[in-house]
Amino acid sequence: MPPPSAAVAKELSLEELWMPFTANRAFKRAPRLLATASGMHYRDVDGRVILDGTAGLWCVNAGHCRPAIVEAIQKSAATLDFAPGFQMGHPASFALAREVAALAPGDLDHVFFANSGSEAVDSALKIALAYHQSRGEPERVRFVGRMRGYHGVGFGGISVGGIEPNKKAFAAQLLPQVDHLPHTHDIAHNAFSRGQPAWGAHLAEVLEKIVADRGARTIAAVIVEPMAGSTGVLVPPKGYLEKLRAICDAHGILLIFDEVITGFGRLGTPFGADYFHIQPDMLTVAKGITNGAVPMGAVVVRHGIYQSVVDAAEAGIEFFHGYTYSGHPLACAAGLATLELYRREGLFQRAAELAPFWEEAVHSLKARPHVIDVRNLGLVAGIELEPRAGKVGARGYDVLVDAFRTGLLVRVTGDIIALSPPLVIERTEIEQVVEMLGAVLERIA
Ligand SMILES: Cc1ncc(COP(=O)(O)O)c(C=O)c1O
Repeated sequence: MPPPSAAVAKELSLEELWMPFTANRAFKRAPRLLATASGMHYRDVDGRVILDGTAGLWCVNAGHCRPAIVEAIQKSAATLDFAPGFQMGHPASFALAREVAALAPGDLDHVFFANSGSEAVDSALKIALAYHQSRGEPERVRFVGRMRGYHGVGFGGISVGGIEPNKKAFAAQLLPQVDHLPHTHDIAHNAFSRGQPAWGAHLAEVLEKIVADRGARTIAAVIVEPMAGSTGVLVPPKGYLEKLRAICDAHGILLIFDEVITGFGRLGTPFGADYFHIQPDMLTVAKGITNGAVPMGAVVVRHGIYQSVVDAAEAGIEFFHGYTYSGHPLACAAGLATLELYRREGLFQRAAELAPFWEEAVHSLKARPHVIDVRNLGLVAGIELEPRAGKVGARGYDVLVDAFRTGLLVRVTGDIIALSPPLVIERTEIEQVVEMLGAVLERIA
C-alpha cells in the first residue's frame, strides 16, 4: 500500500521546505500531509480522518477550528491587520494582558507578549537580569535549568534547557553561566506512577549545592517546567517543586515556571502553578493562549518585577526588548476569544473531571508489548517503550508512523509516546485513543 498523502505529494514539490524537528529525508519519501481540522479530528490530504491525541502540538486545547476563534481572527484581519507595538498600542493587547493577568495566580499581574514559547523564555531570562540590575544586584547573572528541560530553541532556551541533541551543534556558543539540576525521572523508583511519584523530592536539594558552589548572589533565576512535556512527560515528585520554591526564597533567586505546555488547562487548572499550589515569580506561556490558532507567547511577571524595572529606569524606554509582532492584533483577537471559550465551556474544570478516567484508560496500556512505564497528570500521559538494542528512538518513530497510518496522531520523543488531547475530548474518544494506540503497540516489533 502506498503511504498516505503520496498522490498529493506527487503534485507538490516537497524539496524546498526545510522542515523543523523533522527527519526531512524520511518524511519526503513518505509524507504525512494534513489538510483540514475540526474539533477532535484532522483530515489528511487523502481525506482520511485522524483522531488528534496531541492537541496539535500541545496547543489546541479547545479543539480545532472553533467558530468563535475563527470569527475573531477574521474580524481582526479585516479591521486592524497590524499595529506597531513600540510606542504605540491597540485595545486588544491591553485587554488580553488584563485577562491573562486575571487568570494568573497571586500577584503575577503584568504581561509581556512574544510570538512563541522560545521567545517567551528568552524574554523571561532577560527580565530576570533586568530585575536584579534594577534592584542593585547586577552580579546576579547565572541561571539554573534542569536536565531534560525543554525551553524552546533560542540560545537562551537551549542553554538553560537540558536536551542534549538540541545543543550538540551549538555547544560552543551557549550562554556561559548556567548550571543544571538533575532531572527527576527514574523508572527504577517511579515506574507506573499515577499522578505525582512519591520518590524524588530530594533531587531539588541539588539547588542548595549549586548555590553553595556559585554563591547565592550570583544566581538570577531557576527555570523549570512544572511538568516537563516535550522531553517525554516527566511528572514532578511530590514535594519537589515546594523545595525548589523554598530554596529560591531563601536565597533571593527568582523561580520561573515554563508553562508553555501546562498553561491553559492542561492539568485541569489554569496553570501548573495552580495545580501544584506554588507561586512562581514568572510564568512563560504560549500554545494554548490562542488555542494554537495564531502564534503567540507571553511572560507573566509578578507585580514587583515590573515595578522595579520600570521605576529604576531613567525617563524613556525602561526595558530594551520586544518583537515587531509582540501583541499582534490577530493573536490578541484569537487570545481573547480563546480565553472566553475556555471560560464559557468550563474546559479547565472539564479536564480535571476527565483526569481520573484518563488515568485509568492510559494505564491499561501497561499490558502492551515493550511498555516499560506509563505516567500521567491532568490530561497528559507518557508511555515509555523499551528502546531497540542499539537503536534508541527507532521503535518510537515506528509508533508515530503506524499510528498516523491508522488514524491517530501521537507525539513521540525518542521511545516515549506523549498523549495530550484537546480538553474537549469525550470519554468514548479517550477509549478510542487507547484502543488505537494499543493496536499499534501490538503491531510494532
Ligand atoms: C515548556 C516549553 N517551553 C518552550 C517551548 C517552545 O515553544 P515554541 O515552540 O513555541 O518556541 C515549548 C514547546 O513545546 C515547551 O514545551
